[in-house]
Amino acid sequence: MEEKQLAFDVISDKRGSLVSLESNRNIPFDIKRLYYIYGTSDQPRGFHAHKALRQVLICVKGSCKILLDDGIEKRVYELNLPNKGILVEKMVWREMYDFSEDCVLLVLASEYYDEKDYIRDYSDFLK
Ligand code: TYD
Repeated sequence: MEEKQLAFDVISDKRGSLVSLESNRNIPFDIKRLYYIYGTSDQPRGFHAHKALRQVLICVKGSCKILLDDGIEKRVYELNLPNKGILVEKMVWREMYDFSEDCVLLVLASEYYDEKDYIRDYSDFLK
């Protein structure tokens, strides 16, 4: 399984906490895009893999689960800390679910949005 759990340094003082994310430093690619998912429900998301895209997912508020599947092995991770992330390499099937009501899932991406990079059919992914 090509995935990696990342732990980011937290700069905390009595005013609160700060996490800094930098391309090719604590994020292992050039960050070309970021997006965030919020207002989630009991509906799962994802159900696709990417041909080339690499991503880091960080639950900056609340919690959710992510299932990663490289076609051989499946692993489930709980994301529930704003200083923890998971690096999802290309060609890994992902499903996100069990979102807390307050969940905000931040995603850093190595490429611009490109629908052609998606594999949305699980049997195509396995091939
Ligand atoms: P999708 O990647 O399917 O969401 P998830 O993986 O969370 O289930 O994206 C949902 C919709 O948003 C889909 O119509 C594509 C669009 N979209 C963009 O326009 N730009 C983006 O950067 C992303 C990630 C999605």
